[in-house]
Amino acid sequence: MFLWGLRLINEFAVDADEYRRALSTFVTGVTVVTTLQTNGTPRGLTANSFTSVSLDPPLVLVCVAKRASSYTAFANAAHFAVNVLTESQKKISDLFSSKSVDKFAQIQWYACCTGSPVIRDTAASFDCRMHQIVEAGDHTILIGRVLSFSYTNAMPLGYFRSIYVNLSLSKNVSACVQLAH
Ligand SMILES: Cc1cc2nc3c(=O)[nH]c(=O)nc-3n(C[C@H](O)[C@H](O)[C@H](O)COP(=O)(O)O)c2cc1C
Repeated sequence: MFLWGLRLINEFAVDADEYRRALSTFVTGVTVVTTLQTNGTPRGLTANSFTSVSLDPPLVLVCVAKRASSYTAFANAAHFAVNVLTESQKKISDLFSSKSVDKFAQIQWYACCTGSPVIRDTAASFDCRMHQIVEAGDHTILIGRVLSFSYTNAMPLGYFRSIYVNLSLSKNVSACVQLAH
């Protein structure tokens, strides 16, 4: 095991790049969080901060940066949806992490019963009612009450150290290693 760096954080000095590098060792999935704006147009951004919070009641959270251009849309939303991307949807992740003006024109989606946009052919989707909004530093935590969900057996897309990972490849590798023993 190699220790690349031990960093002590005090309130006044945090090396942001080093801190991000340490956080990026945590493997996550990739989601696109979507909502319908009050003017009736869809809005969305790529987010890997998605987490399950509670099973009963079913609550999930996602953190949205205050500097995101879609921040106001989410901060004022009554509903939002979380779309868990598959390995074949990296381009959708790139699109929704960009500043493209019409992200939804380039993908297949439909409006679910709450109006939130749901992306087609994802690994899973969670349709949520806004339950609580928590201010937290340069992000805001959106906690949603899950009203409905769906899932498929497609492989979810992984992400760590700022790159996408195909979990199905690692699964195959470990299967090969087991066969070789
Ligand atoms: C894999 C990945 C995960 C991300 N996770 C988050 C996140 O959890 N919260 C967030 O606010 N931005 C996150 N971002 C950055 C936003 O997707 C990016 O800033 C995007 O441009 C925001 O869109 P907007 O400016 O149209 O709102 C992530 C980007 C990538 C590539």
